[in-house]
Amino acid sequence: MGKAACGGLLARGHKVRGFDIRESSPIVDAIVGDISDAAAVALAMTGIDAVVHLAATPDEDDFPSKLLPNNIVGLYNVLEGARKAGVRRIVLASTGQVVMGHKGPWPITPDMPFSPRNWYGSAKVMAEVAAQFFAHVHGLSVIVARLGWCPRDKAHAEQLRRDEFGKDVYLSPGDAGRFFVCAVEAPADLRHCVVFATSKPVRKARYDITAAAELLGFSPRDTWPEGTEGIAEG
Ligand SMILES: NC(=O)c1ccc[n+]([C@@H]2O[C@H](COP(=O)([O-])OP(=O)(O)OC[C@H]3O[C@@H](n4cnc5c(N)ncnc54)[C@H](O)[C@@H]3O)[C@@H](O)[C@H]2O)c1
Repeated sequence: MGKAACGGLLARGHKVRGFDIRESSPIVDAIVGDISDAAAVALAMTGIDAVVHLAATPDEDDFPSKLLPNNIVGLYNVLEGARKAGVRRIVLASTGQVVMGHKGPWPITPDMPFSPRNWYGSAKVMAEVAAQFFAHVHGLSVIVARLGWCPRDKAHAEQLRRDEFGKDVYLSPGDAGRFFVCAVEAPADLRHCVVFATSKPVRKARYDITAAAELLGFSPRDTWPEGTEGIAEG
């Protein structure tokens, strides 16, 4: 997701600063740091207009050692760091796993109740709830993006290939990049929203992306397996 976001934003002429615990980014202004380190996050916020918050443990994992520091403490540091630095917009990576328990009616809309089924999904519910309070109490513009399935590597893409539901919620790297551009560039007076972001479904729309179209101007171009060619080995 980070590569897709950086690629999309750089292609549009935005200046991008990366922040990751490992050296992974080809961008020039790349900071290596841990989002559970408040001071490092605060420093990275200097001079920033918008934060695309992706850094996290990206799936179910051990809560005390992984999800708590990376997805909860990290979330706290990013939101508070952004507020103190006067950042105007935060784009927050959430997931369809916050509504994993729903078995229809399809497509799931952003206003349907939460139904996480694991600690990862529950941590993202907390992120969504914190985003809402931040927008309303502190006045930041917060866009919660329930991102579809964007394969991290070839093994992840192979897993998706065997999953019929997954193909309907696929998010190609190209569409992900375009989505993050739309989210960063959305009208400044958009205070808070929750949107699904996927490419076009193969068989049936599982997540309703109308809000992403209407509020952010996002419209997907790809359908699984379009866009998988460039996905790297793990
Ligand atoms: N890929 C998907 O299908 C998908 C779907 C829905 C939501 N998401 C969300 O998108 C975001 C990005 O996920 P991804 O799939 O690109 O995973 P990824 O593992 O490729 O990217 C996560 C990045 O966060 C970094 N990171 C982890 N802990 C960190 C820490 N403590 N400090 C700094 N950096 C840290 C990792 O080094 C990694 O580069 C995550 O928030 C994930 O929950 C991903």
